[in-house]
Amino acid sequence: MIDDLWYKNGVIYCLSVGSYMDANGDGVGDFKGLLRRLDYLHGLGITTIWLMPFQTSPGRDDGYDIADYYSVDARYGTLGDFVEFAHGCKQRGIRIIIDLVVNHTSDQHHWFKEARRDRTSPYRDWYVWSDKKPANADKGMVFPGVQKSTWTRDKEAGAYYFHRFYDFQPDLNTSNPHVQAEILKIMGFWIQLGVSGFRMDAVPFVIATKGAKVKKPVEQYDMLRAFREFLQWRQGDAIILAEANVLPKTDMEYFGRDADRMHMMFNFHVNQHLFYALASADSRPLAKALKATKPRPATAQWGLFLRNHDELDLGRLTKAQRDSVFRNFGPDKDMQLYDRGIRRRLAPMLGGDRRRLELAYSLMCTLPGTPVIRYGDEIAMGDDLSLPERNCARTPMQWSTEPHGGFTKSNKPACPVIDKGPYGYPHVNVAKQRRDPNSMLNWTERIVRMRKEVPEIGWGDFTIIPVRDPAVFIMRYDWRNNSVLFVHNLDEKPREIAFSAGLPDEAGAHLINLLAEDHSHADKRGQHRIVLEPYGYRWYRVGGLDYLLKRSDIDGDTVRGKKHPG
Ligand code: NOJ
Repeated sequence: MIDDLWYKNGVIYCLSVGSYMDANGDGVGDFKGLLRRLDYLHGLGITTIWLMPFQTSPGRDDGYDIADYYSVDARYGTLGDFVEFAHGCKQRGIRIIIDLVVNHTSDQHHWFKEARRDRTSPYRDWYVWSDKKPANADKGMVFPGVQKSTWTRDKEAGAYYFHRFYDFQPDLNTSNPHVQAEILKIMGFWIQLGVSGFRMDAVPFVIATKGAKVKKPVEQYDMLRAFREFLQWRQGDAIILAEANVLPKTDMEYFGRDADRMHMMFNFHVNQHLFYALASADSRPLAKALKATKPRPATAQWGLFLRNHDELDLGRLTKAQRDSVFRNFGPDKDMQLYDRGIRRRLAPMLGGDRRRLELAYSLMCTLPGTPVIRYGDEIAMGDDLSLPERNCARTPMQWSTEPHGGFTKSNKPACPVIDKGPYGYPHVNVAKQRRDPNSMLNWTERIVRMRKEVPEIGWGDFTIIPVRDPAVFIMRYDWRNNSVLFVHNLDEKPREIAFSAGLPDEAGAHLINLLAEDHSHADKRGQHRIVLEPYGYRWYRVGGLDYLLKRSDIDGDTVRGKKHPG
């Protein structure tokens, strides 16, 4: 079906145009500014940019309330600027995926305006109505505490409309064939303009049955096949990356048993257990989560992330696990959101501790899937908790020590740049870190490069190597007669550990460190003994003696005692 599996071994970088770089000095980031930063991104080594919504929007949910799908919001530029940007990406071999937000529109979309104005309009049935207030109107809110209801009465329409999210985001009636056809048209439009696929927003809600009489929504999975089929017909290598925070038992429904639905899904299940592992130094629930999400078609892929633009949703953890993450990473009420998550950025959550940041990123890059980096995390940006809800972690990119972090020449950035405290732009910025070989930025660049050189992670089969100490987490990947092995110490104390690579005979006798000089050679019983510093990690290529001697590349050199080229 698909004619290029590029997404199996890439690194995705997610950003919103409005907060990245402002070229025209009006205080809002734009496509021209982003274009100027493409060489920075190319240098970082990312393979794909995921653009958050940039279409015309009143901007009440950071663009997730779209008023015109076939446009660029004037604040960010024009369609022409988008095409220039797409061309710049193409020249550098960077792919683009964009958000596809079709569960709902803005209430300012002309479809909704028509629908509410005129009962007989063809657009009326594009939305979900009820004459009376449905009995379950105060259930199923996605933003509890902020959103009061899922049905709101519209005076002009003389009826209630359904909205899974905020009341200014009326749900589209996705069962309507005209709506379905329009969704395909939107995909076709952007594909034609050079994107390689879509991060599909709120997928479980897009495919759920909707209506006043629906007590328990049912997912219509066939819809996913229709989306994919269309995309593949139009462009063989285009993909859909689904935002679907679902239970592992339904993963296969989303991927499709015949690999005919979503190409990728974010692994929310692993994400939450990863944060629990970081908080508790107990890797066992993470191992369980990895096993639970292991089944997937060979061509499918997980998107692996640490923090994204939303709150860190901990809803799938047990109460005790969730409390532990809250205690460690978001103890104040002000840091928590929607009764289920933490709204902070990664660096402040981890106390700005470089060792922990590296550990977290090393884990993200070595768990099964394709890593997704959030802009600013490569320089360990912080958050501004004085901003409401999720906005605290969406502040502009910090480029330099110039006013407003070099983000804009305007004195009034639409969103304030963090300028005070340890995460303020005078301390945390790209220019400064670029000059420092040991900076987080340069570390990220190195780890991204190495991640791409280890395709076993994206393509291979993983095995979790048993160790007695739950603070130590070891995984091995095997692919096409190659193996790699990763060791992580989740704890603040050092560890001395002994383990076997778990391969027959001599195959796992030598572990060649990919990031430093200390390689490991097993003893006669096949045991490796290594000392891990607090929060330490190792990336190894696995080889038996024969295997190493046969190879003429760096691994063989190491065995013959020559210096490993760094
Ligand atoms: C999920 C997005 O990630 C979030 O930011 C947004 O508010 C909702 N979907 C609604 O579109």
